[in-house]
Amino acid sequence: MTDLKRIGQGRTADIFEYSQGRIIKLYKKDFPAEAINQELVVSGLASSLGIRTPEPFGHTQLDGRDGLIFQRISGVSLLSLIIKKPWAISNYSKLLASLHAEIHAYEAAELNRTQKKVLCDYIQQAPLLTEQEKEKIIRYTEELPDGNKLCHGDFHPDNVLCDEGYWIVDWMTGISGNPAGDTARTVILLSVGSMPDDTPAPLKLFVQFLRNKVKAAYIKEYLRLTGHEYSTIDEWILPAAAARLVEWIPQNEKDALLSIIRARLKTLV
Ligand SMILES: Nc1ncnc2c1ncn2[C@@H]1O[C@H](COP(=O)(O)OP(=O)(O)O)[C@@H](O)[C@H]1O
Ligand SMILES: [Mg+2]
Repeated sequence: MTDLKRIGQGRTADIFEYSQGRIIKLYKKDFPAEAINQELVVSGLASSLGIRTPEPFGHTQLDGRDGLIFQRISGVSLLSLIIKKPWAISNYSKLLASLHAEIHAYEAAELNRTQKKVLCDYIQQAPLLTEQEKEKIIRYTEELPDGNKLCHGDFHPDNVLCDEGYWIVDWMTGISGNPAGDTARTVILLSVGSMPDDTPAPLKLFVQFLRNKVKAAYIKEYLRLTGHEYSTIDEWILPAAAARLVEWIPQNEKDALLSIIRARLKTLV
């Protein structure tokens, strides 16, 4: 393996120092080329719109793996700041909301991946749901209000890096759509998250407490900034939860999503 220094790790890739002021995001072997290209395209769009995101410098290969080169940010994630300074949680959550609302102010009609199509494709592939349930959720999703705004698709505190400013990373899931759907995904991510089985109970409780605090303050600030009602976000919870079932998440997290999905399905006529 390369002797580059690893400085970060995500679910899809490892991040290494590359050259002066640059990093390489090296994807897992056989990671779909289309998704990597999507990250390059959306990062380029976000950067050109003036959103603070590491500038992308193109594609390369290293040790038989695909990589994208980006501007290096010498900061820590918002998630690590929240854990380190929980007393400042309210400010960090407001920041999360304001960055998200800022992204949503931009149009992204030029992106060919659209929210409803992506959501419905995922729901169609979702494990654990019956064909009838999938059909019902897809029909419901198709009726939701359209949008053509820039949506990050995976906006959470670990995808925000902080130095003297703030940087949004990880644009692979970027799409054009209704911001309310993008916010609903963040609400789901802050609502349902599991920890390894051997996590000590007090730590589990503490993390759950922090997550709930972030969620409440994030929602409140997002609604204040945009002037929207929570109901506009809430109506996207069902597809956001169902689409997440296709992801590589632990079974107990899938079970929690399933209870949300089935409770909501019951309320549909
Ligand atoms: N441009 C960058 N500069 C410095 N660190 C980065 C940069 N991009 C990502 N990282 C670090 O690597 C982690 C994983 O990167 P990310 O793009 O979110 O990958 P994944 O898609 O696997 O989640 C980030 O949370 C961050 O800590
Ligand atoms: Mg990430």
